[in-house]
Amino acid sequence: MLLRVLNFSQAVADRHNLMTAKTTFTCASCGASHSKWAGRCDACGEWNSVQEEAPLAAGPAKKTLGAARGKQIALTDLATKEPPLQRSHFGIGELDRVCGDGLVPASVTLVGGDPGIGKSTLLLQAAAAFAARGQKVIYVSGEEATTQIRMRADRLGLAQAPVQLAAETNLRNILTTLEAEKPALAIIDSIQTMWADHVESAPGSVSQVRASAHELTTFAKRHGVAIILVGHVTKDGQIAGPRVVEHMVDTVLYFEGERGHQFRILRAVKNRFGPADEIGVFEMTGTGLAEVTNPSALFLSERDNPASGSVVYAGMEGTRPLLVELQALIAPSPLSNPRRTVVGWDSGRLSMILAVLESRVGISFAGLDVYLNVAGGMKISEPAADLAVAAALLSARQDTPLPAETVIFGEISLSGAIRPATQTENRLREAEKLGFLQSHIPARPKKVASRPNLSLNRHEDLTSFIGECFGPGAFD
Ligand code: TYD
Ligand code: MG
Repeated sequence: MLLRVLNFSQAVADRHNLMTAKTTFTCASCGASHSKWAGRCDACGEWNSVQEEAPLAAGPAKKTLGAARGKQIALTDLATKEPPLQRSHFGIGELDRVCGDGLVPASVTLVGGDPGIGKSTLLLQAAAAFAARGQKVIYVSGEEATTQIRMRADRLGLAQAPVQLAAETNLRNILTTLEAEKPALAIIDSIQTMWADHVESAPGSVSQVRASAHELTTFAKRHGVAIILVGHVTKDGQIAGPRVVEHMVDTVLYFEGERGHQFRILRAVKNRFGPADEIGVFEMTGTGLAEVTNPSALFLSERDNPASGSVVYAGMEGTRPLLVELQALIAPSPLSNPRRTVVGWDSGRLSMILAVLESRVGISFAGLDVYLNVAGGMKISEPAADLAVAAALLSARQDTPLPAETVIFGEISLSGAIRPATQTENRLREAEKLGFLQSHIPARPKKVASRPNLSLNRHEDLTSFIGECFGPGAFD
């Protein structure tokens, strides 16, 4: 009797769900859901990215919940019963570093980036390197025919690599192939071209991208295949962007770089198996991507003779120190609202530094256009760049070059004090290695190892820094 009652209430609930199941609206850029259509997504600010999404078809209702039982295992048992996972290396040092020292078996990695930045090139090289170490790799392309991939492989000098290629977009076929072939690594290029036939929307829509990523992730975990998904960053919102699947995967890597520059940076944004914020640096050459093992030297190699407004900043990217050149230009402005243009750094942060310089040390930039650029197409997000930015602005304003062998770092607080940066020793070691002779750094931490070839100038606040760097009274 009780069973009948339960069944009855289940049927009522199902009917209620069917009647209330509505179409939802989802942002193709960030995946946020909305109750109604809007021209602009409130969550990420993108225009024209909100799309209608059909409700998922209700599956056959389960009679009861809790009947099926998952297997449990004690954490301590795991250590003795299961061997630890062995990471596999690509043999491409910069790529292994970003993954957190090699690829974890059964992990899912998303590689995002603008179209044409070099994702397919990098992954074909990675596939070849992986296969050369005796591991089975399948490269599935939904964008190019196998002959086109072969052409690219020829150009990269990888025509003989033992990589299996497939041109396929139907997810069911891909999963069947992967199950039969059991590769160690499968590369899916790109997730936006995949098509799961149980979802009724076009490839590239939020529902398709999500469903395909979910199927592939589940497959990876169940069958122990490592999977790399390629995701194009899209501008117009017609195609779902990689952010829609970021939460499903283990590792998210973004491939960055300016089209006009040959440097490419692979940045770990999320990593369940290693440090986030780690970067790998590559250079796009005629024969594919080449590793850059000493990026500081490369970023500084194009530096001209000391010019006003040019300052070298000793930064950190993940666990690696990286020296980059900041360039500022100040010009009288014909506009009532002078320009503030920034490339490679945060424009809000620039306004803050300009305000601190004006309010705390009385150096005004009113009536002046300000341009700030990070050389080499690099993007910096660390607040420790504040002091170097201030130095570049002041040097440009006074048209006074700083000595060429100087590095600078430190965070500026709103009070005009200079706050300590992380990993002081690593930054200084890198600067010394590259032949720098002078540094301007925060007064704290108190204990910093003295270096025979690099002098340390330590500053409590902006006034002390400006006095020492530009000479007393330079701005009176
Ligand atoms: P690609 O890997 O196709 O980009 P994505 O998969 O991210 O869309 O890279 C295409 C660009 O790279 C293209 O503009 C040409 C350039 N390229 C080189 O400069 N050298 C090379 O050896 C290759 C294969 C590509
Ligand atoms: Mg591609």
